[in-house]
Amino acid sequence: MENNYSVTDIGLAQKGQKQMALAREQMVGLVELKKEIIKKKIFNNIRIGMALHVTKETAVLVESLVEAGAQVAITGCNPLSTQDDVAAALAKEGVRVYAKKGVSVEEYYDQLNKVLDFEPHITIDDGCDLVNLVHTKRKECMNSIIGGCEETTTGIIRLKAMKKDGVLKYPVVAVNDSKTKHMVDNYYGTGQSTMDGIIRATNILIAGKTVVVCGYGDCGKGVAMRAKALGANVLVTEVDYFKALQAYFDGHRVMPIVDAAPLGDIFVTVTGDKGVIRVEHMKKMKSGSVVCNSGHFDIEIEVAKLKNISKTTEMRSFMDKYEFDNKHIYILAEGRLVNLSAAEGHPSLVMSFSFCNQMLGAEFLIENKGKLSNDLHVLPDAIDQKISKIHLDALGVKIDTLTEEQKAYLASWEEGT
Ligand SMILES: NC(=O)c1ccc[n+]([C@@H]2O[C@H](COP(=O)([O-])OP(=O)(O)OC[C@H]3O[C@@H](n4cnc5c(N)ncnc54)[C@H](O)[C@@H]3O)[C@@H](O)[C@H]2O)c1
Repeated sequence: MENNYSVTDIGLAQKGQKQMALAREQMVGLVELKKEIIKKKIFNNIRIGMALHVTKETAVLVESLVEAGAQVAITGCNPLSTQDDVAAALAKEGVRVYAKKGVSVEEYYDQLNKVLDFEPHITIDDGCDLVNLVHTKRKECMNSIIGGCEETTTGIIRLKAMKKDGVLKYPVVAVNDSKTKHMVDNYYGTGQSTMDGIIRATNILIAGKTVVVCGYGDCGKGVAMRAKALGANVLVTEVDYFKALQAYFDGHRVMPIVDAAPLGDIFVTVTGDKGVIRVEHMKKMKSGSVVCNSGHFDIEIEVAKLKNISKTTEMRSFMDKYEFDNKHIYILAEGRLVNLSAAEGHPSLVMSFSFCNQMLGAEFLIENKGKLSNDLHVLPDAIDQKISKIHLDALGVKIDTLTEEQKAYLASWEEGT
């Protein structure tokens, strides 16, 4: 058979397999869920096309789906996030994998197209690029597609816009909106792995620094919490009054970015928005400031515009010095997701929750084939309960159960003061 893969170096496969073994050990919930799904045989003859960060955790999702009977073709969803050893390991296992760390935008789209050439029944996306391609340049793929699953907030925003414009042509499960995904991944995962990315890229001490977190959604709350725990003073910028209020009551100073710019030592954007830190703000920053992004796309910081007025030097991997106006600042990972570029993304246990949701989301699409509207669908609460229970069981945590009397009380209105 012709090589059904395009990876940086197939010789890295053994290294990737070791990474996958470590991930599997931590992904206790997904490994347990897989045993149940295999018995159902629901994925037999199902082709799945994926655009996810090609990490060791994603590889465990891929092998779980393959063991459950599916065929999978996968590419990355960000030019810098592929782990080359993991891509090689998947290729060695016979998975169609088209993923290399550091691809150009053109290569990135070539790889997405290769996944669509596989004529998937289900698309699994992180950021909506695959769905977007199906709806624009690859409309013929619609013939085989049952539905899709979307991993992240930015993808959900794009899908909602597609629905609003009346162009969304198949049902998509909003995996991001499951409680067990959003709380564990965006909050705890992004919190830890963003700080991990900053530390690996710079190796600077966080204690005593002023960390400016732009955006106080679940990701921003997580980053702020971990930065504070490392001894930083946290400043938050927001555009939403309620989120700003929460940041204030969580003990952070809240102010517009224009005021935060001269005060911060480290800046992190996590908004899903564009142009959040602009050149005018970077001009106000102290020399030596570190600026990075952990939101989905690389448009939160005006890196390209800053480049036009700067002399740039790569100081370390993922840490570039930009010199302008007689000072310099450091941009990490070219303004792309710092946690997936300079570090390895979320810890494996975090991704176990996200990927249980992906697996059950795909199952939901198959079980409800032809019955779902061309809209976004949030998985039922029972699935969040199931995923929570699987993990707590595997982690050895027990909880109380309602007594009959309590059940009756909670379902009644008569009993009061
Ligand atoms: N790094 C990762 O691994 C990772 C993981 C999950 C999600 N994400 C991405 O992170 C981003 C944020 O996700 P979330 O779940 O926290 O979203 P969210 O919608 O819960 O929060 C985003 C916050 O940013 C605020 N915001 C928007 N524009 C702003 C601006 N100009 N200035 C300041 N604040 C602004 C919004 O009001 C909102 O409170 C998305 O792009 C998402 O896809 C990244």
